Amino acid sequence: MKDKKLKIVITGHVDHGKSTVIGRLLLDSGSLSEDRIKEIEKIAKDSKEIVNYAFLLDHLKEEREKGITIDTTQAYLKKDGKEYVLIDAPGHVEFITNMITGSAQADAAILVLDASEGICEQTKRHSFILSMLGITQLILVINKMDTVDYSEAVYRQLKKEILGHLASFHLEVVHTIPVSAIKGENIVTKSPELSFYQGPTVWEALEDLHCKNVEEANVTIVPIQDVYEVDSKKLYIGRIETGKASTGCQLFLPAKGKEINIKQIMKFQESRDEYEAGDSVGLLIDESLHLERGDILCTPGTEISPVLNLRATILWLSHYKLSIGEKFTLHCLTQEADCYINKIYRKMDSSDLSIIEDDSTQINDLEVCDVDIVLESPLIVSNRKDLSMISKIVLVKNNNICGNGIVINC
Ligand code: GTP
Ligand code: MG
Repeated sequence: MKDKKLKIVITGHVDHGKSTVIGRLLLDSGSLSEDRIKEIEKIAKDSKEIVNYAFLLDHLKEEREKGITIDTTQAYLKKDGKEYVLIDAPGHVEFITNMITGSAQADAAILVLDASEGICEQTKRHSFILSMLGITQLILVINKMDTVDYSEAVYRQLKKEILGHLASFHLEVVHTIPVSAIKGENIVTKSPELSFYQGPTVWEALEDLHCKNVEEANVTIVPIQDVYEVDSKKLYIGRIETGKASTGCQLFLPAKGKEINIKQIMKFQESRDEYEAGDSVGLLIDESLHLERGDILCTPGTEISPVLNLRATILWLSHYKLSIGEKFTLHCLTQEADCYINKIYRKMDSSDLSIIEDDSTQINDLEVCDVDIVLESPLIVSNRKDLSMISKIVLVKNNNICGNGIVINC
């Protein structure tokens, strides 16, 4: 089986040190070339500042000048033959859609907390978003321990508070690690200043995270993206979202209730017996059947069927206020359907999930709501935990993404 890269998103409140944690991981693990190290030292010398490890991730001129992350950046790490993709997410609330885009691709997360500031608004909002996106594994990094005199009491108190907060989100906290990212303490090498902590460094803790799409591989899901005509045969293109597929296997088309024989499965410039989650493949099937973009293929026997009505939790991220009955488009993988909200059961504040209003009529920016959605054409969605890829939905209004959500009943 091909090794899958484990994708880890680094989240947390503004300035709590996310980019610095990644920068230090790259530097101290020897993952950077001499040229990159020199480049960072030169920037520091020119601006007469100490070396800013966040610069390794913050590429945009505006990001470096303002010392903030705006867009997500990916960094690659190799450890004991395993590959990791670290996704640096912005902490500012204005860039929360970028944080969601980064987190939506991730298998696991690191949540960074500043030891002196503690739990802040984006710490809470990011934890909610991670759980909404189906991320279950988390490493907590309590950063800037140098600013609290490496106090064990501060670490213990903060650990208690954040674990209490995360308990309601079903996030499994694998490790809670006290670090000073700027000094490289407990990032790759252990720190004598933090000798009260006996657990792994952040670098060592990466080993305890795993790829969810390969492990949850009881069901195969392939959404059809495109149809090509090759030698007068139809070639269906799609990405295996979860599970595996091979030439000769049977898949099921729940939209039509039909089983499909996969005559051949192939990948551009690569030939293997079996393909799996993450592979973009081409499929040849019986010519009597026609598929189109938006069709979902799955393992025969999977209990999913088309629905016209669903209940979802939505995080609304737009200044456009959506009202009951108003039309928008719902996307789920390559599927899309026009729809409207039939009922808003309740609205909550996305920073602490406190209830704003029951039985509402309108959704505003940064509100989380529990809604009933009526679809104008059927879609394949699910609320099953092991099928999280068909439970994540995106809402679009006037060609802009306005909301992200998860199906809770259908
Ligand atoms: P955004 O992406 O804008 O949300 O910020 P961020 O979370 O990526 O924070 P960043 O890594 O840019 O660090 C913010 C500031 O905190 C920078 O000035 C860092 O040098 C500083 N910093 C990061 N880690 C530490 C640490 O362990 N100790 C101290 N004292 N400062 C730190
Ligand atoms: Mg940053």
